[in-house]
Amino acid sequence: MTNEELVAEARAAAEKAYAPYSNYRVGAVAVAEDGTHYTGANVENSAYGSSICAEASAIAHAVSSGVRKIDTVAVSCLDADEPGYPCGNCRQLMVEFGVARVIVDGFDAGPIEHTREELIPHGFRL
Ligand code: THU
Repeated sequence: MTNEELVAEARAAAEKAYAPYSNYRVGAVAVAEDGTHYTGANVENSAYGSSICAEASAIAHAVSSGVRKIDTVAVSCLDADEPGYPCGNCRQLMVEFGVARVIVDGFDAGPIEHTREELIPHGFRL
């Protein structure tokens, strides 16, 4: 699958976001080692700190389906005009499940690919 297709899948997942507080809809797809795709979207809460990011949602979708190694996470923000990068918490979740590649929607400029190591070098591990 191309990076363009992965970003398109993340973008479609963002349509399912529940973001009435920020109006900032985010979608993500986590691609497991075996190639299976798990989507997620941000899920907000009136107690703002209880909100769940799209990447966390996709990673939890994969892990709660039995996955323990995720190769790629792609992310897209529908209501933005510049690339939305994963927050620090989501980057740490990526460390836990061995994510190698992160693809961010760059809109007209096309998908932007990073290694996870670029986004969170020296991530915490026990
Ligand atoms: N959000 C994500 O879904 N992923 C991130 O990496 C950063 C932020 C969500 C959380 C909240 O619902 C909205 O974007 C605005 O912060």
